[in-house]
Amino acid sequence: MKKIVEVLIDKTALIQKSLDIFLEKAQAAIAERGVFTVALAGGNTPKPLYEAIVTQGLPWQKIHIFWGDERYVPPDHPDSNQGMARHAWLDQVGFPETNVHPMPTDEADPALAAQKYEAHLQTFFQIPPGQFPALDLVLLGIGDDGHTASLFPFTEALKVHDRLITVGNKDGQPRITFTAPLINQAKTVVFLVAGASKQLALAEIFAENGDANHCPARLIQPQEELWWLLDQSAGKQVQPSIVEISA
Ligand code: 6PG
Repeated sequence: MKKIVEVLIDKTALIQKSLDIFLEKAQAAIAERGVFTVALAGGNTPKPLYEAIVTQGLPWQKIHIFWGDERYVPPDHPDSNQGMARHAWLDQVGFPETNVHPMPTDEADPALAAQKYEAHLQTFFQIPPGQFPALDLVLLGIGDDGHTASLFPFTEALKVHDRLITVGNKDGQPRITFTAPLINQAKTVVFLVAGASKQLALAEIFAENGDANHCPARLIQPQEELWWLLDQSAGKQVQPSIVEISA
């Protein structure tokens, strides 16, 4: 696994670097297999990245969009991760709807929605139950509490290792989320982290020893390539590094 930690001068530089990586991975996947599969992060940090992708003139019909997690609200709700990405990017370029794979949030039981999305991924990637597909790219953020996707501290979702998708829980509110093993199967994982409020979580994430139950982002150890893109406010205490860890 190759782990790169970069501290960028400000959020603009962070977004530019994440765009460079996005474009590199998209072009490589499309050149190699004719398709690029990416799971988007929610929250606020990645929005300028999605806005920047609009003008890149990529072959949208060769890109498939998934979400790493979703709040359990309709897509037109202001908290919807799907809604944010559609507004910032997908609707701006007339992205082919068949290539957009939102997490369902219309089942009375969120567990059913999680099962549906898992089945959808199994069909799309043509993999049998029990196997994990390798997305080309998974974008992630972290919360001040060290969560990532919707893997929140001390929740049941952290214990799920035999499913692709599970139900997350944020203060009693249901979420749909990739599980850690699904994220870790990705060819490339990129964290985008900005702002001083993330310093403490980053200190725990990069500590030699720590408790993933308390800081779920520590669970993310993909087999291939892991990028931590931090702006200076978030990464004040973090040493930039490039580490090659042989499998
Ligand atoms: C979500 C995200 C979540 C997010 C972090 C950071 O649904 O909220 O997927 O994991 O990445 O909470 O959010 P900000 O980028 O807004 O700080």
